[in-house]
Amino acid sequence: MSLSPIEHSASLRIGAVEFVSPDEIKVGLDLEAPDGIAANAGVPRAFPRINGYVLIATEAGHIVAQVEWIAVERSPFPKRKGFADYGLVDLPFPLREMRINPLGLLKKDEEGFQFQRGIHIFPSVGEPVLIPTDAQLRAIVKSGKKRRVKIGTSPLAANADVCIDPDRLFGRHLAVLGNTGSGKSCSVAGLIQWSLKTASTANSNPNARFIILDPNGEYARVFKDSGRIFQVGDKGQPLEVPLWFWNSSEWISFTQAAARAQVPLLKRALRSMRNEEFEFETDPKIEAKRFIGIILQSTIASKNSGEPYKQFPHTKNFTERLIVWKESIDDYNNITDNLVKLSRRLDSLISKHKKAESNGWTNYPEYTSVEIDKLINGLRKYYKLLGGTEQDLLPKNEDIPVKFTGDVFVSFLSLLARETGNEQYFDFLLARIQTMLADTRMKEIIGDNVDITLEQWLESYIGKDKAENGCVTVIDLSLVPAEIIHIITSVIARMTFEALQRYRKINEKSLPTVLVMEEAHTFIKRYKEDTENQNSASVCTQIFEKIAREGRKFGLGLVLSSQRPSELSPTVLSQCNSFLLHRISNDIDQDLVRRLVPDNLRGLLRELPSLPSQQAILLGWAAELPIMVRMNDLAEHERPHSDDPDFWDVWTGKNDKGEIVSRKIDWKEIADEWQMKHFSKTDEENTELQS
Ligand SMILES: Nc1ncnc2c1ncn2[C@@H]1O[C@H](COP(=O)(O)OP(=O)(O)O)[C@@H](O)[C@H]1O
Ligand SMILES: [Mg+2]
Repeated sequence: MSLSPIEHSASLRIGAVEFVSPDEIKVGLDLEAPDGIAANAGVPRAFPRINGYVLIATEAGHIVAQVEWIAVERSPFPKRKGFADYGLVDLPFPLREMRINPLGLLKKDEEGFQFQRGIHIFPSVGEPVLIPTDAQLRAIVKSGKKRRVKIGTSPLAANADVCIDPDRLFGRHLAVLGNTGSGKSCSVAGLIQWSLKTASTANSNPNARFIILDPNGEYARVFKDSGRIFQVGDKGQPLEVPLWFWNSSEWISFTQAAARAQVPLLKRALRSMRNEEFEFETDPKIEAKRFIGIILQSTIASKNSGEPYKQFPHTKNFTERLIVWKESIDDYNNITDNLVKLSRRLDSLISKHKKAESNGWTNYPEYTSVEIDKLINGLRKYYKLLGGTEQDLLPKNEDIPVKFTGDVFVSFLSLLARETGNEQYFDFLLARIQTMLADTRMKEIIGDNVDITLEQWLESYIGKDKAENGCVTVIDLSLVPAEIIHIITSVIARMTFEALQRYRKINEKSLPTVLVMEEAHTFIKRYKEDTENQNSASVCTQIFEKIAREGRKFGLGLVLSSQRPSELSPTVLSQCNSFLLHRISNDIDQDLVRRLVPDNLRGLLRELPSLPSQQAILLGWAAELPIMVRMNDLAEHERPHSDDPDFWDVWTGKNDKGEIVSRKIDWKEIADEWQMKHFSKTDEENTELQS
């Protein structure tokens, strides 16, 4: 049966516009309009349905609107077709009316229907309201370009496919929010799997990188065959985040170093570790070179501060330092005689600036800039003679990941504390580091036995060239000790971010990478900015805030999953451009997500508390208009496995499949481990401690 457009639109008519104001459009439904199921638009479809789509036929095209509410109004007279029959008694008659919310315009061109956000002209009263055809619904749902990956179907739009553009979804940070059990983890795992599957139709080995920070340990089973799994304990590859990766703020937050008394020394110790100044050097020539390098840097710093040109006591301090330097150089003179001239030069400089007066006082005249420049040039000449390079002179900052061991760090730090008379302030701080180094659980992740180079780490955690070793990294944080879990998370996130920053600096192109953070409310928490002592949770939040703000430039997209959006850092949330909202019943969290959406689009969000699991609303940059999605089905083995406690099975000793479920208890083992009485045979250090 083929209908003319007019006839067709007549058959799809369900009512007419009755009331128009800038923020409200009301429609009176025709008596014949379907009530429950609409069969006139092709596939039978629920109508009228809250949040379903309707069209208003105008000259410019069809205005697309979403149903906000539906009501029945008692009319004193029937709206009868044909002539009134005055012989009948008219009883009050129920009339249906609905309020709709205009979203955009649907136009037809050679390629079919095209949907456009926003409307230029409001409809007028009397204009017919239609139920959209399947083709029209598909056009609304699929609007936008490059919709490459199918993630589900839309129950409000005749189950049309919902497809996303990965550049949009991952490129500008995605937040997946919803109650526990609403399907967040499945959606996250699904988005990754469906994207990779679709990409592999175009390139059999997709060059993709997904890094999942997984505090519940749910993702390992999903990606066990395709990805790299890092775990504590002896299951997957060991999770390794050596302590020399940590930057100064991570160290400060872990040790709870006090801002004035401890932070400067801690930073100085880190700087020395990173400049390898601590290393004992057996070759005296290298030792001499290093010494001259240090005094050269120090002289340049003094020159820049203007110290030698100022009056007493600055001139005295500088002269005293020259005296100490000269004495050390004389020691080296025994080894390399070409330092004699340098020693003499220092000597004459010192005698000019330390003059004994007849009255018993000592006078320290100011230095001239010529004298200081000559000294610097001299030092530089000898430094080069001994094999030093300009490159070596550049001080390495305290944050770069240069390898050092925890033991050396602790001894260096205690030495530094003693020499500077700060010993009593450092007891607690040193004890904290030592406890960490001795703890078997922490040692495994960060300790001195962790033997991995920076390059190896980047290869295994971010991925090799062309993603040769897989596209997905799962970092199982579930067994990481609570004391360091925030530090470990922030180190991994920061290392990823900085690696991509450097990648772009060198290659002038970014390396697209997605960082997934599950249970984001525990790692990206709101925090108070004004506290003096940064704890490790706020250091962790800050790195994610930085990634949220700047990650896009370097190709790093964030995917956050959380059940408590109101506890998340507002900075991070406001940087998320796409949202996948599952069921949210808590009203504080509902209020929060409602504020993310423009007023006229809030209607759909009223469904949030009643969404079934696996259904969600996609909105923001990744969707032309907010859209309800029923996510694709995941098979059992494709779903993240959250370990809900199985009370019943344990109580009854078997599960649904009839398999035996047991829980053996050996408290002694736990007590021993707790009281640190438990030593594995390989653990030599601990055995030594014991003996
Ligand atoms: N796409 C899906 N395919 C199959 N089952 C799903 C899907 N989404 C959700 N589910 C079901 O919902 C349950 C809870 O989902 P989950 O992702 O663990 O929720 P959340 O992470 O929000 O706590 C899953 O165990 C699964 O049975
Ligand atoms: Mg989950």
